[in-house]
Amino acid sequence: MNTIYKIVKSEKLNIDTFLLTVESEKIAKKSRPGQIVHIKCGNGTEAYLRRPISICSVDREKGTFDLAIQIRGKGTKILSCLKAGDDIDVMGPLGQGFSLYPRHKKIIAVGGGIGIFPLLQLLKDHPAQNKKAILGFRTRSLIILENEFRQSCNELLIATDDGSYGEKGFVTELLKKEVEKELPDMVFICGPTVMMKAGVELLKKHNIPCEVSMEQRMGCGIGACLVCVCKIKKDDDWNYTQICKSGPVFSGDEVIFD
Ligand SMILES: Cc1cc2nc3c(=O)[nH]c(=O)nc-3n(C[C@H](O)[C@H](O)[C@H](O)COP(=O)(O)OP(=O)(O)OC[C@H]3O[C@@H](n4cnc5c(N)ncnc54)[C@H](O)[C@@H]3O)c2cc1C
Ligand code: FES
Repeated sequence: MNTIYKIVKSEKLNIDTFLLTVESEKIAKKSRPGQIVHIKCGNGTEAYLRRPISICSVDREKGTFDLAIQIRGKGTKILSCLKAGDDIDVMGPLGQGFSLYPRHKKIIAVGGGIGIFPLLQLLKDHPAQNKKAILGFRTRSLIILENEFRQSCNELLIATDDGSYGEKGFVTELLKKEVEKELPDMVFICGPTVMMKAGVELLKKHNIPCEVSMEQRMGCGIGACLVCVCKIKKDDDWNYTQICKSGPVFSGDEVIFD
């Protein structure tokens, strides 16, 4: 199920984040926004398990896809050393992506931290006429992919924690203001759990549907090992489900955020 692809480009985006462009006609053509790939990091046992990374964008004509990766630990550090011409071992595309319904004419995509990455291709592919993005960063020097997002939506709003660029504060505060101005048909949220939880609660009050992309450490990536579960509502009760297979994208109202 895994395939070796060639890296076409590796580019530093900010102090700890880089962009890998990988050649794969299959993933460029077959993947849907929100899906992930599961990547082998090096040949040793240092980072034994594969690491899940969202497909950030695809170029269907060139047959390439982009991964934006933030260095967190051993695995992502190994990936940051890859350069053009190197091989990369990839499983995917995996999981369930965002829904792209033409009936959703006004959408808002809300992202924080590494959660912004899967939203880029979502904005490119979504058939809505009115697409807004609200992205959150800690500070101005960490802002990345601003032009790419600006070109993929009608309006881009940026929030920074310290107010060094855009609005000062959290993306959920900006979302609240936007929702109070004009109700969107659908909202997509990806970022830290507290942010997604706050977003879902806000949207519930306004009866606006939303989808969230859940993050959890992963093992197999194909639903077999149960490392990546989250709690999902089921009738009056709840059940565990695998994020790698049934997600990472879920309807906001079905997830139980612990
Ligand atoms: C569905 C999904 C999509 C993702 N998409 C992206 C992406 O597009 N770009 C990107 O940079 N990263 C993404 N990640 C996160 C990425 O998989 C982790 O940062 C990576 O696995 C860390 O590996 P490492 O070996 O570098 O760090 P490790 O050495 O394994 O860990 C370093 C630190 O990060 C924490 N950590 C590791 N994995 C996770 C995780 N999944 N959730 C929360 N904390 C974690 C560890 O507890 C530890 O504190 C995604 C994760 C998931 C589940
Ligand atoms: S990672 Fe093994 S079940 Fe999801």
